[in-house]
Amino acid sequence: MRSLWGGLGLAILAMTITGCNTVNQPTPPVPGSTSDAASPEFYTGHVRPIFEKYCFRCHAGMNHRGGLSMATSASMRKGGKSGIDIVPGHPESSMMMKLIRHEGTAHDPENMPSKSAKLADADIATVERWIRAGALMPGDPPRP
Ligand code: HEC
Repeated sequence: MRSLWGGLGLAILAMTITGCNTVNQPTPPVPGSTSDAASPEFYTGHVRPIFEKYCFRCHAGMNHRGGLSMATSASMRKGGKSGIDIVPGHPESSMMMKLIRHEGTAHDPENMPSKSAKLADADIATVERWIRAGALMPGDPPRP
């Protein structure tokens, strides 16, 4: 009897540790895309698939939740109601990083994606690399 309850306890513990679906699966990049984070193609090949899967339903098209549209480089640069969400070159100062790492406050703005599981660590790292390398996107004005 004891071992049965012990086993059950272990199973519950294992489910808690593995998060039991509280973290999303990593997003595969577009096959053949560049791994050079300092290029707009990195956005298209690695970052956009993550945003498309987890963010666009609330932050693109007709939806600008929190005032933030992630649809174009101009709207991304503008940020949302809290101001600039991405500081190119500085993930540590970027609100977006804070929210996807679940290091934000309970609300206003809350952690992202809103009301669903946290992004996989690999996806968070991809977004961080992209911001650190300048957060370049297709449609950016030419660099000086
Ligand atoms: C289910 C809808 C939903 C999804 C999915 C979602 N968001 Fe949000 N987002 C919101 C809402 C609503 C707000 C405003 C929240 C608030 O002010 O408390 C917001 C606010 C934000 C803000 C702050 C904007 C500002 O300047 O105040 C950022 C940055 C952000 N989201 C990024 C993301 C990212 C990145 C993803 C995908 C990983 C994502 N969101 C997915 C609904 C969503």
